Amino acid sequence: MAARAEGLTKAYGSGETRVVALDAVSVSVPHGEFVAIMGPSGSGKSTLMHCLAGLDTATGGQIWIGDNEITRLKDKKLTQLRRDRIGFIFQAFNLLPTLTALENITLPMDIAGRKADQAWVDKVIDTVGLAGRLKHRPTELSGGQQQRVACARALASRPDIIFADEPTGNLDSRAGAEILAFLRSSVDDLGQTIVMVTHDPVAASYADRVLFLADGRIVDELLEPSADSVLDRMRKFDGAGRRS
Ligand SMILES: Nc1ncnc2c1ncn2[C@@H]1O[C@H](COP(=O)(O)OP(=O)(O)OP(=O)(O)O)[C@@H](O)[C@H]1O
Ligand SMILES: [Mg+2]
Repeated sequence: MAARAEGLTKAYGSGETRVVALDAVSVSVPHGEFVAIMGPSGSGKSTLMHCLAGLDTATGGQIWIGDNEITRLKDKKLTQLRRDRIGFIFQAFNLLPTLTALENITLPMDIAGRKADQAWVDKVIDTVGLAGRLKHRPTELSGGQQQRVACARALASRPDIIFADEPTGNLDSRAGAEILAFLRSSVDDLGQTIVMVTHDPVAASYADRVLFLADGRIVDELLEPSADSVLDRMRKFDGAGRRS
C-alpha cells in the first residue's frame, strides 16, 4: 500500500466546542492508484488529506505511508519522510512570488540539499507543458500555468504519493482538464499514486475510485467512475427533496 489509515480519528477543540472531523476512518490506497475523495463541505476531506500526508496530527488511530507508521514518528523523522516521499498540491498553489517557475519546481529539493534528477525534472516539465515558461514568475503566469507549476513541483522529487486538495478548483474547465489529464497520465505512464479531493464529478471521473465522505466517515465507494455515475451517487447523499 502507498498509504493506509486504520481507525483514523481527528477531533478539534475540546468540551463544548469539540468537533470530530474524522470519525474512525479506515482507508487503503494501493501503489499506482488514483483515488478521488468527495463529500459535502465540512465532511472532513481536507482533514483526511492533511492527516494522511503528515501535515496534521491524528487524535487517534494509525497511519502508514508505505511501511512507515507516521503516527509513531517524531517531528524530525516525519519532516524528512514528508519531504522525501510525499508531494502535496494545495488549492492555493503556494508558489513563491519572487522565484521563477523553475526555481519553484526545484525548491523542495534545493531546501533538502538534494540534487535533482535532471532527466526526470525535464520529463515532468515537458509533460506539464511548461518548457517555454520556466523563467517566468508566478504573477506572469495564468492560473492554469501556476497550477501546472505546483503539479510539477509535487512530481519533481518523485514522491511515492501525491495528495492534491482541489487542484482544479480555481481553474476554468479547459485548464482543469489539462491538469487532470496530466495527473492521469502520471498514474498510467509513471506509476504515480494520487489522492485528490474534488467537488467536480468530471474531475472525479479521471480517478480509478471515488470515496465519499460524510460527517467524517467514508460512506460509499465507486469504482471506475464516470461523471454521470458520480453525479448519481452524489444525489443519493444530497438528502431527499432537493432539486437541481
Ligand atoms: N483548525 C480547525 N479547528 C477547528 N475545527 C476545524 C479545523 N479545521 C477543520 N475543522 C472542522 O472540521 C470539519 C472538517 O473540515 P475539513 O476542512 O476537513 O472539511 P472539507 O471536507 O475539506 O470541507 P470543504 O469542502 O469546505 O473544503 C469541519 O467541521 C471544520 O469546521
Ligand atoms: Mg477542504
